[in-house]
Amino acid sequence: MIADLLIEDIGALVTMEGPGLGLVEGATLACAGGRVVYAGPRAGFAGQLAPEGERVDAAGRLVSPGLCDPHAHPMFGGDRAGELAMRARGDSYADIQAAGGGIYSSVRATRAAGDDVLVDRTLARLGRMRALGTTTVEAKTGYALDLPGELRMLHLYAEVARRAPVRLSPTLLAHVLPAEVLGDAPARASYVSAFANELIPQAAAERLAQACDVYCDQGAFTIEEARALLEAGRRAGLGLHCHAEQFTRSGATALAAELGAWSADHLERVTDDDARGLAAAGTVAVLLPGAMITLDLPRPPARRLLELGAFVALGTDCNPGSSMTESLPLQMSLACMQLRMTVEEAWLAVTRRAAHALGRDGGRLAVGAAADVVLWDATSPAEVPYQLGRNLVSRVWVGGKA
Ligand code: NIG
Ligand code: FE
Repeated sequence: MIADLLIEDIGALVTMEGPGLGLVEGATLACAGGRVVYAGPRAGFAGQLAPEGERVDAAGRLVSPGLCDPHAHPMFGGDRAGELAMRARGDSYADIQAAGGGIYSSVRATRAAGDDVLVDRTLARLGRMRALGTTTVEAKTGYALDLPGELRMLHLYAEVARRAPVRLSPTLLAHVLPAEVLGDAPARASYVSAFANELIPQAAAERLAQACDVYCDQGAFTIEEARALLEAGRRAGLGLHCHAEQFTRSGATALAAELGAWSADHLERVTDDDARGLAAAGTVAVLLPGAMITLDLPRPPARRLLELGAFVALGTDCNPGSSMTESLPLQMSLACMQLRMTVEEAWLAVTRRAAHALGRDGGRLAVGAAADVVLWDATSPAEVPYQLGRNLVSRVWVGGKA
């Protein structure tokens, strides 16, 4: 066995294989051609390093799979720092949106931004995410709203994906109704119909999106509209996600489970029956502590979801309004501190479960798996969520490349 990347003297190797963290103490990790060829006890490794290969001394530190962010909105124009100030003075997220701000403010800024600006800003953001340990990122559209603009975002994501320092999983998001159709029932119906019957099939046929998503809530799409959009996604062969039960309980979680969605996300108002439905369908519950904290929402019932057998993942929900964070380790901290998730559950939620929520088999270090790896300036897995807001990442490899 000839490795081109050899990480030696690993104090704690989180493989996510088998029960719990699949922890191996005193480990070696060897990779070749972008894949793992050995992950286990130091004594069991019998291969060699190729002459041009990279040898890394982990010096007793922690090594884990690269993290996967299953819910992110990384491309948008402008920013909404001013809204934090407004909310701090007592305005609500819904009031700000109803007054034409919120998502609509980012839509104006995104429509006005040039292609290069959007691509460069997104690449910079993905670079910062990688520096925080993330190697796979979901990337939602939804800040153009008009169909040509949404298609433009997908094309820009294709350009970003070619140059990005992480793996990208683009999702076409039906985010909110364009301001132009609000209060005009026929125009609203024809927007939903064109999104479902024209844009979704086109995005799937051109392989610009791997999934589609609908924000089903007050101020966004109704449950009937969400069904039409998600059924169109399913017909087109896309994976399905749904922004569900964040501000109001709409029934979107049950709809996601019924349609076999990859994930239902947010879930602040989810019921036990919803959780059972997710568990039965294998639809991942993606919790978003950044949005929960930013908007001071009720805590989603993570313990109940886990007890009832649902798969639970964590995402950043990185977006300019409700969750301006790029850090998955911060979400792990919040999950342990605010949602009563265990350290093991938090690691699982940003590795295997998060990959599952993107229709992937990833987030583990086993022979044959992608060589997406993080070396941490830490010696135990608990240190990552324990350090609230400090970046412990030392090195990152994606497909074996530093
Ligand atoms: O996932 N809830 C809806 N959409 C985003 C927020 C987007 C924004 O405020 O710009 C979310 O939280
Ligand atoms: Fe979101």
